[in-house]
Amino acid sequence: MSDIEAIGKRLMQLVERSKDMDALESARIAVLGKNGELTALLKTLGSMSPEERVEKGHKINLWKAAIIGTIEAQKTIFETATLQTRLATERVDMTLPAPDAPRGTIHPVSQVMDELAEIFADMGFAVAEGPEIEDDWHNFTALNIPETHPARAMHDTFYFPDDMARDGQKMVLRTHTSPVQIRTMTSQEPPIRIIAPGRVYRSDSDATHTPMFHQIEGLVIDKGIHLGHLKWTLETFLKAYFEREDVVLRLRPSYFPFTEPSVEVDVGYSVINGKRVIGGAEGWMEVLGSGMVHRKVIAACGLDPDVWQGFAFGTGVDRLAMLKYGMDDLRAFFDGDNRWLQHYGFNALDVPTLSGGVGA
Ligand code: DAH
Repeated sequence: MSDIEAIGKRLMQLVERSKDMDALESARIAVLGKNGELTALLKTLGSMSPEERVEKGHKINLWKAAIIGTIEAQKTIFETATLQTRLATERVDMTLPAPDAPRGTIHPVSQVMDELAEIFADMGFAVAEGPEIEDDWHNFTALNIPETHPARAMHDTFYFPDDMARDGQKMVLRTHTSPVQIRTMTSQEPPIRIIAPGRVYRSDSDATHTPMFHQIEGLVIDKGIHLGHLKWTLETFLKAYFEREDVVLRLRPSYFPFTEPSVEVDVGYSVINGKRVIGGAEGWMEVLGSGMVHRKVIAACGLDPDVWQGFAFGTGVDRLAMLKYGMDDLRAFFDGDNRWLQHYGFNALDVPTLSGGVGA
């Protein structure tokens, strides 16, 4: 066997025996690097006679090509193996439970507000907001509750001291979300379709009343709006909210200063295993106040009541939450007791969507 054959074979073995990428790289340098053996062999060609150079040069280059081919093949094998190990070891099992770290929950009030926003968005209602520190005009006067009106006494209002009056207006903690009706009508052109969820305040505290609670207001202002639109809207809303088709409404004549006519809305319940369940009509419970927006309210907002009509409604969000999710003490809503929150709270990923079910 000639020298070249012996050297070629030995160098090839060096490459073939490399067990990993590092060893392969060392072998490549030892053979083909600047001071590599095969490189050195190629350098000897210069001092040969032309005939010899042709013959040996051909042989050396054949070995060079073969060794480069083997190095490339080895590389591919090592790379594939590395990838396979990574895929096997770095796999994340998405079905494993989350680590047992402290976990917060979404308060039922927030969850219900999100549900309501989702339901009403589907009917074309936008969400509107107003300040919790409100002036007397927006909270009362513009809603047809003048200073001398007996309805003022019904609200157990928290008044701010006189020296905090703004533009001659006494300031109050808003007693309901109805002032958002006024703020919307004075800042937007009709047609209007809004809901306004938020905190409200009254100086009242017992098992069913807390000084701060949550309401949601609804307002529609357009041309040719009548009580039928109101009833359809409330029925569609309550069916979606309670996720039952058999929700039955009863509209009773009532009185609110800002609506004429005014109606109180009851929803029918059935008694199942001693518990009241929404649906059917074995008994009734009041869930909403509503009515056609009073002409005086429309006029107070600078709109012509002969052109624009509408309906409004308002209800307690906390109560809606209690009816749907079965809590029986309102005060627990605001205690911040972690056990209650863990029990009644919602997972942050339970985002209400109409397609996924607003009940989460
Ligand atoms: N603002 C009323 C309250 O706090 C609730 C209410 C009744 C709102 C009738 C309305 C309505 O918009 O039309 O008791």
